[in-house]
Amino acid sequence: MKVLRLSLAGFGVVGQGLVELLNRKQEYLRQAFELDVRLVGVGNGHHGFIYHEEGLNLPTLLDLGAQPGRPLVNYPGAHHHWGTILKGIEKTSADILVEATSTNLRDAEPGLSHITTALRMSTHVVTANKGPGALAALDLLALARQQGVQLRMESTVMAGTPVLSTIREGMAGASIQSVRGILNGTTNYILTAMAGGRAYDEVLAEAQAQGYAETDPTADVEGYDALAKTLILAALVFNQPLKPEQVARHGITAITPADLQQADHAGKRIKLLGSIQRVGDKLEASVALHSLPLADPLARIDGATNALVIQSDTLSEVTITGPGAGATQTAQGLLADIIACAQ
Ligand code: HSE
Repeated sequence: MKVLRLSLAGFGVVGQGLVELLNRKQEYLRQAFELDVRLVGVGNGHHGFIYHEEGLNLPTLLDLGAQPGRPLVNYPGAHHHWGTILKGIEKTSADILVEATSTNLRDAEPGLSHITTALRMSTHVVTANKGPGALAALDLLALARQQGVQLRMESTVMAGTPVLSTIREGMAGASIQSVRGILNGTTNYILTAMAGGRAYDEVLAEAQAQGYAETDPTADVEGYDALAKTLILAALVFNQPLKPEQVARHGITAITPADLQQADHAGKRIKLLGSIQRVGDKLEASVALHSLPLADPLARIDGATNALVIQSDTLSEVTITGPGAGATQTAQGLLADIIACAQ
């Protein structure tokens, strides 16, 4: 049995989703992978970082997380406590840092500092935080290589639906010409419900309650979240970093139920797509609304489901579809990355 010690930065929807999944899968991970996974450190932006050398009790943590305002320091018998996550990472050790703090597309902090600090300490990193991948994926991957550890970010694009590993491993050797997809669950959920006649505000509140939306849902409805995923795809699939300002970005706030119903009557569906295509040796990318004919594989992708259409020289068109948001769905991507690091 291999003991795998994890630290978790971020204890919101995704962080708690991972703790719940680890708790649920503890026995299965032992049996199927011979892994004894222990969570030794947890931190969030409000309450700092707690650490227990032997592993924290997962149900106790979940109980604390379920009661907003109950600081993590109330964890009974936490051996150590630091005022910030960063301090906690610096002062403790783990085999893998799981980064699940909120995405910030301006400077990727605090996630970027958490990740670089862990990598410099030769700790593997798996991240659901899209900021560091969007702004610095290739630099961070180079740092990970230099330190002889892994940096994995499966759940940053389409949550746990395995799009990055499928392209990297399953499609290894194929030359990718373009990708385009529904990359944001919240906006697809809203567009689907509005096409059925429901009101924007009501449906957005529902997406927030389901744990699909970002901490600040402006990131979803103004297209920033889809932009972050488009930037990550540019770096990881095409090995070409793009800056946010190189990608034209649109959201869904200008769309009306009438627009959606009109498209419906014309046999079309309006979808927010992130797209990248090779043009010569450059990339052209955008996040924009498209009116798709029903024959398009993306036209009938509804609710919080995401999908990506990949054009390559050897397989022509491949479409990957699956859940794109939600606590367990995102935690599944982290779990797959954790197991991959262990293996
Ligand atoms: N807010 C994101 C979405 C979560 O709705 O797709 C997953 O990245």
